Amino acid sequence: MDPSLIIFLILTSLVIVITLIILFIISLDSDLTLYFAEKFGKSISGLKGKVVWITGASSGIGESLTYLLAKNGCKLIISATTKDRLDNVRLNCISEGVPEKDILALVFDMKDFKVHSEMVEKAIKTFGRIDVLVNNAGRSQRASFNEIDVSVDEELYKINTLGPVNLTRLVLKHWEQTDSAGAIAVVTSVAGKLGAPFSASYTASKHALHVQLNREFWKMLILDKLVKLLDGNIQRK
Ligand SMILES: NC(=O)c1ccc[n+]([C@@H]2O[C@H](COP(=O)([O-])OP(=O)(O)OC[C@H]3O[C@@H](n4cnc5c(N)ncnc54)[C@H](OP(=O)(O)O)[C@@H]3O)[C@@H](O)[C@H]2O)c1
Repeated sequence: MDPSLIIFLILTSLVIVITLIILFIISLDSDLTLYFAEKFGKSISGLKGKVVWITGASSGIGESLTYLLAKNGCKLIISATTKDRLDNVRLNCISEGVPEKDILALVFDMKDFKVHSEMVEKAIKTFGRIDVLVNNAGRSQRASFNEIDVSVDEELYKINTLGPVNLTRLVLKHWEQTDSAGAIAVVTSVAGKLGAPFSASYTASKHALHVQLNREFWKMLILDKLVKLLDGNIQRK
């Protein structure tokens, strides 16, 4: 065969393979980790009996996740600001078979940092522990950069960044005080990695959330491994 034809065929095949890989990654919402976790990770049924707190559970992703976890036998703490919608989600879970004692609705605003510790205490008083905190509550925003009032920036940072950070700290402190552990999940956004047009406040708040929690968790993970490596009896501090 003509060598130039061979080169042409190889290059064409390469272009096709690379295009397919790119399309595949795009179809996964650019999240390979999630794809592999879904394929090869632990099954959701392993969460049966776990106490899971979902913030922003009155609609959207949080509401859907609540029903999924309810079906899989979790004890649920659901929170948001709109009491009627949250009550509705709670009643839907109960009508799907979740015992009333296994679901607690907490109505509070993520911006109201002062009430966070009271909410954590209520959750612990009800279930004795928190196994998983899903920081999902969030608000979006769209406007040209120069049209945004600073009060919008402030509100978005409080809801999307400082609220989850503060709540996470309180739960981590509880685990530390009770020598227990659990998992923290954070719902961010591609906007928090790549940015999005006409969403400066939202994009910045999600970037900040990534930086503040990601770095800290990596540090904890590495410290944990180091501590285990050096001496299994040393407590993580
Ligand atoms: N949908 C998407 O395409 C998408 C894409 C990327 C990332 N996300 C992220 O996914 C998460 C959920 O979004 P979603 O699309 O499901 O939106 P959604 O339907 O608007 O739900 C947002 C939830 O957050 C709660 N919330 C908002 N402000 C709050 C506050 N100040 N205090 C307490 N709770 C508050 C809302 O409840 P109340 O209104 O009752 O307070 C609601 O339950 C957000 O963090 C969002 O940034 C979504």
